Amino acid sequence: MGLVKDWGDVAMSETDEREIEALLADIASLKEKRRAVFLVHNYQLEEIQEIADYLGDSLGLGQQAQKSDAQVIVLCGVEFMAETAKLLNPEKTVLLPEEHAGCPMADMITEEELVALKEEHPRAKVVAYVNTTVATKAHTDICCTSSNATKVVGTLGEDQQIIFIPDKYLGAYVEKETGRSMILWNGFCPTHARLLVEDILIAKREHPRAKVMAHPECRPEVLDMADAVRSTGGMIRYVSEVDDKEFIVGTEIGMVTTLRRRYPERKFYSAASEKLICPNMKMTTLRSVKRALEEMTNEIIIPERYIAPARKAIERMVAVGRGESG
Ligand code: 13P
Ligand code: SF4
Repeated sequence: MGLVKDWGDVAMSETDEREIEALLADIASLKEKRRAVFLVHNYQLEEIQEIADYLGDSLGLGQQAQKSDAQVIVLCGVEFMAETAKLLNPEKTVLLPEEHAGCPMADMITEEELVALKEEHPRAKVVAYVNTTVATKAHTDICCTSSNATKVVGTLGEDQQIIFIPDKYLGAYVEKETGRSMILWNGFCPTHARLLVEDILIAKREHPRAKVMAHPECRPEVLDMADAVRSTGGMIRYVSEVDDKEFIVGTEIGMVTTLRRRYPERKFYSAASEKLICPNMKMTTLRSVKRALEEMTNEIIIPERYIAPARKAIERMVAVGRGESG
């Protein structure tokens, strides 16, 4: 198994074969010793996807974390995903192999900003995308992911005023799908925001028979060009539901790897290759997984005052389950 895999021409990790074999053997024995499980997000490097016990989207990772009976959860993704796993399993040890693997969108709204926004709109309920910090989740009524945002909003009464944080593009997509207007925050994903209409036009010109899939974090004008707007997990299901053989993938480039591994007989093209790299998602390597398990470092600790309210918002989301917003 080589670790330099092609996403178009983008190579992300270079570890030689012998080192890989040694790392895999060490990780396997540490995993057994710690009674650990590896929950891996769809955007992770191929080397990490290959050691996954579960590979999926944000909602799937939360659902798996809730079901898991392992002592230690190694969450290969970004911080908010590990925090969600911890909130659902306060008694377990949750490790994030790379301490600095955060989500810039989650940092686009602070606890203080959300509290001030709620004061401006005292009757509004807060729906928070899971891509938020625990501090903001603690002031949230219900969380959502890209796979159930529309369904979550649909659980709130027709006349209910809604504050939706932090992703203005996902929020606008939900508004369009539901016909409801919400108070949106001005957050966005820097990676998905780089994908432009011109990129889709070029990709369509190069692959005229390909269906276009786009993540709802993309700009509205990009979503308007998509055949399917889906979460990462939703993209996997979409491919299984259609007969098409070629797909343009409008999301983080790791998803091209996930789809190629899952459907080797079909063709997947990134909508914009290098532009669609989330650096935080690419931090985790076999070396970091080994280190985390060896030293039991980067354990997720959530301040006591946030645990109960943030957990409630997450549990409400998990109870709603998957929707077809993506
Ligand atoms: P998914 O829940 O669709 O996997 O998305 C997570 C994410 O961070 C998208 O950028
Ligand atoms: Fe956050 Fe965007 Fe990276 Fe997803 S792709 S983790 S939203 S920065």
